[in-house]
Amino acid sequence: MTSNAAEAWLRRWDAQQERYVADREERFTVLCDIVETAVQDVAGPVIIDLGCGPGSLAARLCDRLPHATITGIDSDPLLLGLARAHYTGITWVDADLSAREWLAEVPPVIHAAVSTTALHWLDNDQLAALYRTLSGLMAPGGVFINGDHIKVGDERLDKLAEVIRHRRAARVGVQDNEDWTAWWDAANSSPELSALVQARTERKLKTASHNENTLTITGQADALRAAGFDHVAPLWQVGDDHVLVAIKS
Ligand SMILES: C[S@@+](CC[C@H](N)C(=O)[O-])C[C@H]1O[C@@H](n2cnc3c(N)ncnc32)[C@H](O)[C@@H]1O
Repeated sequence: MTSNAAEAWLRRWDAQQERYVADREERFTVLCDIVETAVQDVAGPVIIDLGCGPGSLAARLCDRLPHATITGIDSDPLLLGLARAHYTGITWVDADLSAREWLAEVPPVIHAAVSTTALHWLDNDQLAALYRTLSGLMAPGGVFINGDHIKVGDERLDKLAEVIRHRRAARVGVQDNEDWTAWWDAANSSPELSALVQARTERKLKTASHNENTLTITGQADALRAAGFDHVAPLWQVGDDHVLVAIKS
């Protein structure tokens, strides 16, 4: 596939994701600001993007920090195929974050780990194990940042957060963007993506078990502290859309 053909799918992916995350670009900018600040004294920062999909965040980090070594990790061959076809200067790793094989594919010490709209796919135990692994990889001062929809754990407040999410989407004008199912239907029937579709079909991803994680924002923060991170708090929020930050001393 050509870089231009991939780019059209990537733009379409971004618009589709914005239907669910109206402030996605702002959230990316906040994440980049935090990473940039955390690694400002590091000559060659090493950054990993967990559940990178087609590379939207990794690419924005690469633009912001062209001297960084950036690795995007995902288990979806189609989304990784789009990233590989369009973005240069980033290493793309095809691996399952609920296992440990990806560790062999990243440098032994990292300065930042980021993730957006992805880690809710891991169950609570898998996420806690991932946080312990990340803590072990982090250089002193290293930062982990998770941008995702995370409940606060109070039924009434979580319902209000949903209202905020939908009203925000309407104000931004993204509520009628192409949805997840329509994007995948289009990708699955596209002749130019047929090889990637076949690779994805053979992979048998467990897409049916989407949103397995039940940790609240407090639960995630506790899991990060238990994993060895010292400074943990959400630093940006719109409704249930959080940017949770954890720094390792
Ligand atoms: C909604 S997409 C978000 C992608 C990207 N971070 C973004 O913000 O556009 C969720 C991503 O998580 C990935 N993912 C889910 N579970 C995974 C796992 N166990 N290992 C690796 N990637 C996973 C999916 O393949 C998908 O690319």
